[in-house]
Amino acid sequence: MSESETIENSIITAIETSEDTFDATLRPKKLADYIGQHVTKKNLQVSMDAAKQRKEPIEHILIYGPPGLGKTTLANVIANEMSAGIRTTSGPAIERAGDVAAILTSLQEGDILFIDEIHRLNRQIEEILYSAMEDFALDIVIGKGPSARTLRLDLPKFTLIGATTRVASLSSPLRDRFGMIYRLDFYEPEDIEKIIHRSARILNIPIDQPGLASIAMRARRTPRIANRLLKRVRDFAQVHGNGQIDSITSQKSLDNLHIDTCGLDEIDRRILETIIHKFGGGPVGLSTISAAIAEERETVEDVYEPYLIQMGFLERTGRGRKATPHAYTHLGLTPPLA
Ligand SMILES: Nc1ncnc2c1ncn2[C@@H]1O[C@H](COP(=O)(O)OP(=O)(O)O)[C@@H](O)[C@H]1O
Ligand SMILES: [Mg+2]
Repeated sequence: MSESETIENSIITAIETSEDTFDATLRPKKLADYIGQHVTKKNLQVSMDAAKQRKEPIEHILIYGPPGLGKTTLANVIANEMSAGIRTTSGPAIERAGDVAAILTSLQEGDILFIDEIHRLNRQIEEILYSAMEDFALDIVIGKGPSARTLRLDLPKFTLIGATTRVASLSSPLRDRFGMIYRLDFYEPEDIEKIIHRSARILNIPIDQPGLASIAMRARRTPRIANRLLKRVRDFAQVHGNGQIDSITSQKSLDNLHIDTCGLDEIDRRILETIIHKFGGGPVGLSTISAAIAEERETVEDVYEPYLIQMGFLERTGRGRKATPHAYTHLGLTPPLA
Protein backbone atom coordinates (compact mmCIF):
# COMPACT_ATOMS: atom_id res chain seq x y z
CA MET A 1 0.00 0.00 0.00
CA SER A 2 1.43 3.40 -0.94
CA GLU A 3 1.62 6.36 1.42
CA SER A 4 -1.25 8.15 -0.23
CA GLU A 5 -3.47 5.08 0.01
CA THR A 6 -2.73 4.83 3.71
CA ILE A 7 -3.90 8.39 4.12
CA GLU A 8 -7.00 7.96 1.97
CA ASN A 9 -7.94 4.85 3.91
CA SER A 10 -7.41 6.36 7.29
CA ILE A 11 -10.86 7.57 8.20
CA ILE A 12 -9.70 10.02 10.78
CA THR A 13 -7.07 11.69 8.65
CA ALA A 14 -7.68 15.39 8.76
CA ILE A 15 -6.34 15.77 5.24
CA GLU A 16 -8.92 16.73 2.68
CA THR A 17 -10.04 13.84 0.48
CA SER A 18 -12.11 13.95 -2.70
CA GLU A 19 -15.17 12.98 -0.64
CA ASP A 20 -14.91 16.08 1.54
CA THR A 21 -14.69 18.37 -1.45
CA PHE A 22 -18.25 17.43 -2.39
CA ASP A 23 -19.46 18.77 0.89
CA ALA A 24 -19.53 22.42 0.03
CA THR A 25 -22.99 22.46 1.61
CA LEU A 26 -21.46 21.88 5.04
CA ARG A 27 -19.10 24.82 4.73
CA PRO A 28 -20.35 27.87 6.65
CA LYS A 29 -20.52 30.99 4.47
CA LYS A 30 -21.06 33.65 7.11
CA LEU A 31 -18.93 34.44 10.13
CA ALA A 32 -21.99 33.95 12.35
CA ASP A 33 -22.25 30.34 11.16
CA TYR A 34 -18.55 29.67 11.69
CA ILE A 35 -18.60 27.79 14.98
CA GLY A 36 -15.93 28.16 17.70
CA GLN A 37 -12.60 30.02 17.36
CA HIS A 38 -14.13 32.87 19.35
CA VAL A 39 -11.04 35.04 19.73
CA THR A 40 -10.17 34.86 16.04
CA LYS A 41 -13.73 35.65 15.05
CA LYS A 42 -13.96 38.64 17.36
CA ASN A 43 -10.73 40.18 16.11
CA LEU A 44 -11.57 39.46 12.53
CA GLN A 45 -14.99 41.05 12.85
CA VAL A 46 -13.41 44.30 14.08
CA SER A 47 -10.90 44.35 11.23
CA MET A 48 -13.57 43.64 8.65
CA ASP A 49 -15.87 46.35 10.00
CA ALA A 50 -13.03 48.86 10.05
CA ALA A 51 -11.97 48.04 6.50
CA LYS A 52 -15.57 48.33 5.32
CA GLN A 53 -15.95 51.73 7.00
CA ARG A 54 -12.80 52.95 5.28
CA LYS A 55 -13.99 51.35 2.03
CA GLU A 56 -10.66 49.60 1.72
CA PRO A 57 -9.72 45.97 1.20
CA ILE A 58 -8.85 44.20 4.45
CA GLU A 59 -5.15 43.75 5.28
CA HIS A 60 -3.27 40.61 4.26
CA ILE A 61 -4.14 37.69 6.53
CA LEU A 62 -2.22 34.56 7.43
CA ILE A 63 -4.19 31.62 8.88
CA TYR A 64 -2.34 28.64 10.32
CA GLY A 65 -3.14 25.45 12.16
CA PRO A 66 -3.42 21.66 11.69
CA PRO A 67 -5.45 20.30 8.75
CA GLY A 68 -9.24 20.23 8.95
CA LEU A 69 -9.69 23.07 11.44
CA GLY A 70 -11.30 25.50 9.00
CA LYS A 71 -8.59 27.55 7.28
CA THR A 72 -10.04 27.32 3.78
CA THR A 73 -13.52 27.82 5.17
CA LEU A 74 -12.46 30.96 7.00
CA ALA A 75 -10.79 32.44 3.90
CA ASN A 76 -14.05 31.97 2.00
CA VAL A 77 -16.09 33.40 4.86
CA ILE A 78 -13.92 36.53 4.82
CA ALA A 79 -14.39 36.94 1.06
CA ASN A 80 -18.12 36.52 1.46
CA GLU A 81 -18.37 38.97 4.37
CA MET A 82 -16.30 41.54 2.49
CA SER A 83 -18.35 40.95 -0.68
CA ALA A 84 -15.05 40.36 -2.42
CA GLY A 85 -14.19 38.06 -5.28
CA ILE A 86 -11.85 35.21 -4.35
CA ARG A 87 -9.14 33.54 -6.43
CA THR A 88 -7.86 30.28 -4.96
CA THR A 89 -4.49 28.72 -5.64
CA SER A 90 -1.80 26.93 -3.67
CA GLY A 91 1.93 27.11 -3.02
CA PRO A 92 2.81 24.03 -5.07
CA ALA A 93 0.58 25.15 -7.98
CA ILE A 94 2.58 28.32 -8.56
CA GLU A 95 5.79 27.13 -10.14
CA ARG A 96 7.08 29.97 -12.26
CA ALA A 97 7.23 33.76 -11.97
CA GLY A 98 4.87 33.95 -14.96
CA ASP A 99 2.20 31.97 -13.05
CA VAL A 100 2.08 34.44 -10.20
CA ALA A 101 2.29 37.45 -12.53
CA ALA A 102 -0.70 36.16 -14.48
CA ILE A 103 -2.74 35.69 -11.31
CA LEU A 104 -1.82 39.08 -9.84
CA THR A 105 -2.55 41.04 -12.98
CA SER A 106 -5.94 39.38 -13.37
CA LEU A 107 -7.15 40.54 -9.93
CA GLN A 108 -9.77 43.25 -9.55
CA GLU A 109 -9.64 45.98 -6.93
CA GLY A 110 -10.67 44.50 -3.56
CA ASP A 111 -10.32 40.86 -4.64
CA ILE A 112 -8.98 38.22 -2.31
CA LEU A 113 -6.15 35.99 -3.44
CA PHE A 114 -6.16 32.82 -1.36
CA ILE A 115 -2.90 30.86 -1.38
CA ASP A 116 -3.24 27.52 0.40
CA GLU A 117 -0.09 25.75 1.62
CA ILE A 118 1.72 29.04 1.29
CA HIS A 119 4.81 27.59 2.97
CA ARG A 120 5.46 25.64 -0.22
CA LEU A 121 6.05 28.67 -2.45
CA ASN A 122 9.55 28.85 -3.83
CA ARG A 123 11.84 31.75 -2.98
CA GLN A 124 11.60 33.46 -6.36
CA ILE A 125 7.80 33.59 -6.14
CA GLU A 126 7.96 34.77 -2.55
CA GLU A 127 10.13 37.68 -3.64
CA ILE A 128 7.63 38.73 -6.27
CA LEU A 129 4.94 38.64 -3.60
CA TYR A 130 6.89 41.00 -1.31
CA SER A 131 6.39 44.04 -3.53
CA ALA A 132 2.93 42.92 -4.57
CA MET A 133 1.84 42.77 -0.93
CA GLU A 134 3.64 45.88 0.23
CA ASP A 135 3.40 48.32 -2.68
CA PHE A 136 0.74 46.66 -4.86
CA ALA A 137 3.30 46.58 -7.63
CA LEU A 138 4.82 43.92 -9.80
CA ASP A 139 8.43 44.20 -10.94
CA ILE A 140 9.02 42.50 -14.25
CA VAL A 141 12.46 41.96 -15.69
CA ILE A 142 12.56 42.38 -19.45
CA GLY A 143 15.43 41.01 -21.47
CA LYS A 144 18.59 39.28 -20.32
CA GLY A 145 22.13 40.24 -19.45
CA PRO A 146 23.39 43.85 -19.56
CA SER A 147 20.39 45.13 -21.52
CA ALA A 148 17.87 43.76 -19.02
CA ARG A 149 15.65 46.32 -17.36
CA THR A 150 12.90 46.25 -14.82
CA LEU A 151 9.42 47.42 -15.47
CA ARG A 152 7.09 48.22 -12.60
CA LEU A 153 3.41 47.44 -13.09
CA ASP A 154 0.79 48.78 -10.73
CA LEU A 155 -1.60 46.21 -9.30
CA PRO A 156 -5.11 46.75 -7.96
CA LYS A 157 -5.36 46.82 -4.17
CA PHE A 158 -6.05 43.24 -3.17
CA THR A 159 -5.92 41.11 -0.05
CA LEU A 160 -3.69 38.09 0.19
CA ILE A 161 -4.92 35.35 2.50
CA GLY A 162 -2.37 32.63 3.11
CA ALA A 163 -3.05 29.33 4.84
CA THR A 164 -0.49 26.91 6.20
CA THR A 165 -0.13 23.92 8.49
CA ARG A 166 3.49 24.84 9.22
CA VAL A 167 3.95 28.48 10.00
CA ALA A 168 7.56 27.90 11.07
CA SER A 169 8.49 27.05 7.47
CA LEU A 170 7.46 30.49 6.25
CA SER A 171 10.34 32.89 5.65
CA SER A 172 10.23 35.81 8.02
CA PRO A 173 10.08 38.53 5.31
CA LEU A 174 6.93 36.88 3.98
CA ARG A 175 5.43 36.41 7.44
CA ASP A 176 6.13 40.04 8.31
CA ARG A 177 4.08 41.28 5.38
CA PHE A 178 0.84 39.95 6.81
CA GLY A 179 -1.14 42.50 8.79
CA MET A 180 -2.95 39.79 10.73
CA ILE A 181 -1.89 36.32 11.75
CA TYR A 182 -4.51 33.93 13.15
CA ARG A 183 -3.86 30.55 14.65
CA LEU A 184 -6.75 28.11 14.59
CA ASP A 185 -6.92 25.87 17.64
CA PHE A 186 -8.44 22.46 18.15
CA TYR A 187 -12.15 22.95 18.89
CA GLU A 188 -13.79 22.74 22.27
CA PRO A 189 -15.90 19.56 22.58
CA GLU A 190 -19.13 21.59 22.79
CA ASP A 191 -18.24 23.40 19.56
CA ILE A 192 -17.62 20.08 17.83
CA GLU A 193 -21.08 18.98 19.01
CA LYS A 194 -22.56 22.15 17.55
CA ILE A 195 -20.82 21.47 14.24
CA ILE A 196 -22.15 17.90 14.11
CA HIS A 197 -25.60 19.15 15.04
CA ARG A 198 -25.51 21.72 12.25
CA SER A 199 -24.26 19.20 9.68
CA ALA A 200 -26.88 16.62 10.72
CA ARG A 201 -29.56 19.25 10.20
CA ILE A 202 -28.24 20.20 6.77
CA LEU A 203 -27.89 16.56 5.68
CA ASN A 204 -31.22 15.59 7.25
CA ILE A 205 -29.75 12.95 9.54
CA PRO A 206 -31.82 12.02 12.63
CA ILE A 207 -29.51 12.00 15.65
CA ASP A 208 -30.07 12.35 19.40
CA GLN A 209 -27.90 14.15 21.96
CA PRO A 210 -26.03 11.02 23.21
CA GLY A 211 -25.36 10.12 19.58
CA LEU A 212 -23.93 13.59 18.97
CA ALA A 213 -21.76 13.40 22.06
CA SER A 214 -20.46 9.98 21.15
CA ILE A 215 -19.32 11.13 17.70
CA ALA A 216 -17.91 14.39 19.07
CA MET A 217 -15.78 12.52 21.59
CA ARG A 218 -13.93 10.70 18.81
CA ALA A 219 -13.67 13.52 16.29
CA ARG A 220 -10.20 14.68 17.37
CA ARG A 221 -11.61 18.14 18.06
CA THR A 222 -11.49 18.68 14.27
CA PRO A 223 -14.54 19.76 12.19
CA ARG A 224 -13.50 17.87 9.06
CA ILE A 225 -13.26 14.61 10.99
CA ALA A 226 -16.51 15.31 12.85
CA ASN A 227 -18.36 15.66 9.54
CA ARG A 228 -16.74 12.57 8.11
CA LEU A 229 -17.57 10.42 11.14
CA LEU A 230 -21.15 11.65 11.06
CA LYS A 231 -21.51 10.35 7.52
CA ARG A 232 -19.91 7.00 8.34
CA VAL A 233 -22.24 6.55 11.30
CA ARG A 234 -25.21 7.51 9.15
CA ASP A 235 -24.32 4.72 6.70
CA PHE A 236 -24.05 2.25 9.56
CA ALA A 237 -27.34 3.35 11.14
CA GLN A 238 -29.05 2.96 7.79
CA VAL A 239 -27.72 -0.53 7.09
CA HIS A 240 -27.72 -2.00 10.60
CA GLY A 241 -30.45 0.01 12.28
CA ASN A 242 -33.46 2.14 11.52
CA GLY A 243 -31.47 5.13 10.27
CA GLN A 244 -31.70 6.90 13.60
CA ILE A 245 -28.34 7.73 15.23
CA ASP A 246 -28.14 7.16 18.98
CA SER A 247 -25.16 6.48 21.21
CA ILE A 248 -25.30 2.71 20.63
CA THR A 249 -25.28 2.83 16.81
CA SER A 250 -22.63 5.48 16.88
CA GLN A 251 -20.37 3.57 19.28
CA LYS A 252 -20.76 0.34 17.36
CA SER A 253 -19.98 1.89 14.03
CA LEU A 254 -16.97 3.80 15.34
CA ASP A 255 -15.67 0.64 17.04
CA ASN A 256 -15.93 -1.08 13.67
CA LEU A 257 -13.73 1.65 12.24
CA HIS A 258 -11.17 1.04 15.01
CA ILE A 259 -11.43 4.56 16.35
CA ASP A 260 -11.11 4.53 20.11
CA THR A 261 -12.87 6.72 22.66
CA CYS A 262 -10.14 9.37 22.45
CA GLY A 263 -10.39 9.54 18.67
CA LEU A 264 -7.14 7.63 18.09
CA ASP A 265 -6.96 5.34 15.10
CA GLU A 266 -4.55 2.54 14.28
CA ILE A 267 -1.80 4.82 13.04
CA ASP A 268 -1.91 6.97 16.19
CA ARG A 269 -1.70 3.87 18.31
CA ARG A 270 1.13 2.50 16.20
CA ILE A 271 3.07 5.72 16.75
CA LEU A 272 2.68 5.48 20.51
CA GLU A 273 3.34 1.73 20.63
CA THR A 274 6.47 2.13 18.50
CA ILE A 275 7.87 4.74 20.86
CA ILE A 276 7.02 2.63 23.88
CA HIS A 277 7.98 -0.86 22.70
CA LYS A 278 10.84 -0.17 20.32
CA PHE A 279 12.43 2.89 21.88
CA GLY A 280 11.79 2.47 25.57
CA GLY A 281 9.25 5.30 25.62
CA GLY A 282 11.59 7.79 23.96
CA PRO A 283 12.94 10.33 23.44
CA VAL A 284 13.28 9.26 19.83
CA GLY A 285 13.66 11.34 16.68
CA LEU A 286 10.74 12.00 14.39
CA SER A 287 12.50 10.49 11.36
CA THR A 288 13.11 7.27 13.26
CA ILE A 289 9.45 7.04 14.25
CA SER A 290 8.29 7.78 10.71
CA ALA A 291 10.60 5.13 9.27
CA ALA A 292 9.48 2.56 11.84
CA ILE A 293 5.80 2.98 11.00
CA ALA A 294 6.38 3.55 7.26
CA GLU A 295 4.68 6.95 7.11
CA GLU A 296 6.12 10.16 5.75
CA ARG A 297 7.78 12.39 8.27
CA GLU A 298 5.64 15.36 7.20
CA THR A 299 2.45 13.36 7.66
CA VAL A 300 3.42 12.27 11.15
CA GLU A 301 4.42 15.81 12.08
CA ASP A 302 1.47 17.69 10.54
CA VAL A 303 -1.40 15.22 10.82
CA TYR A 304 -0.84 12.89 13.76
CA GLU A 305 1.43 14.67 16.21
CA PRO A 306 -0.55 17.85 16.88
CA TYR A 307 -3.53 15.92 18.22
CA LEU A 308 -1.40 13.44 20.21
CA ILE A 309 0.38 16.38 21.81
CA GLN A 310 -2.87 18.26 22.39
CA MET A 311 -4.30 15.17 24.13
CA GLY A 312 -1.22 14.81 26.32
CA PHE A 313 -0.10 11.46 24.86
CA LEU A 314 3.09 12.73 23.29
CA GLU A 315 5.72 15.20 24.34
CA ARG A 316 8.13 17.08 22.11
CA THR A 317 11.54 17.42 23.74
CA GLY A 318 14.87 18.75 22.53
CA ARG A 319 16.07 15.16 21.99
CA GLY A 320 12.95 13.81 20.29
CA ARG A 321 9.46 12.54 21.03
CA LYS A 322 8.46 10.90 24.31
CA ALA A 323 5.38 8.89 25.22
CA THR A 324 3.72 10.29 28.35
CA PRO A 325 2.43 8.16 31.26
CA HIS A 326 -1.04 9.00 29.95
CA ALA A 327 -0.17 7.22 26.67
CA TYR A 328 0.83 4.06 28.58
CA THR A 329 -2.38 3.95 30.56
CA HIS A 330 -4.50 4.67 27.47
CA LEU A 331 -2.92 1.64 25.78
CA GLY A 332 -3.49 -0.50 28.87
CA LEU A 333 0.19 -0.50 29.84
CA THR A 334 1.92 0.40 33.07
CA PRO A 335 3.95 3.60 32.83
CA PRO A 336 7.60 3.26 33.85
CA LEU A 337 8.53 4.61 37.27
CA ALA A 338 9.77 8.17 37.01
N1 LIG B 1 -15.78 26.79 12.33
C1 LIG B 1 -16.44 25.87 11.63
N2 LIG B 1 -17.78 25.70 11.78
C2 LIG B 1 -18.44 24.75 11.10
N3 LIG B 1 -17.86 23.90 10.23
C3 LIG B 1 -16.53 24.01 10.01
C4 LIG B 1 -15.76 25.00 10.69
N4 LIG B 1 -14.48 24.89 10.30
C5 LIG B 1 -14.45 23.89 9.42
N5 LIG B 1 -15.67 23.34 9.24
C6 LIG B 1 -15.99 22.18 8.40
O1 LIG B 1 -14.83 21.38 8.29
C7 LIG B 1 -14.46 21.19 6.93
C8 LIG B 1 -12.96 21.34 6.79
O2 LIG B 1 -12.58 22.70 6.93
P1 LIG B 1 -11.46 23.37 5.99
O3 LIG B 1 -11.70 24.83 5.99
O4 LIG B 1 -11.44 22.70 4.67
O5 LIG B 1 -10.13 23.00 6.82
P2 LIG B 1 -8.60 23.36 6.50
O6 LIG B 1 -8.59 24.25 5.30
O7 LIG B 1 -8.09 24.02 7.75
O8 LIG B 1 -7.92 22.04 6.28
C9 LIG B 1 -15.26 22.23 6.13
O9 LIG B 1 -15.71 21.69 4.93
C10 LIG B 1 -16.44 22.56 7.01
O10 LIG B 1 -17.54 21.77 6.67
MG1 LIG C 1 -7.79 23.84 3.44
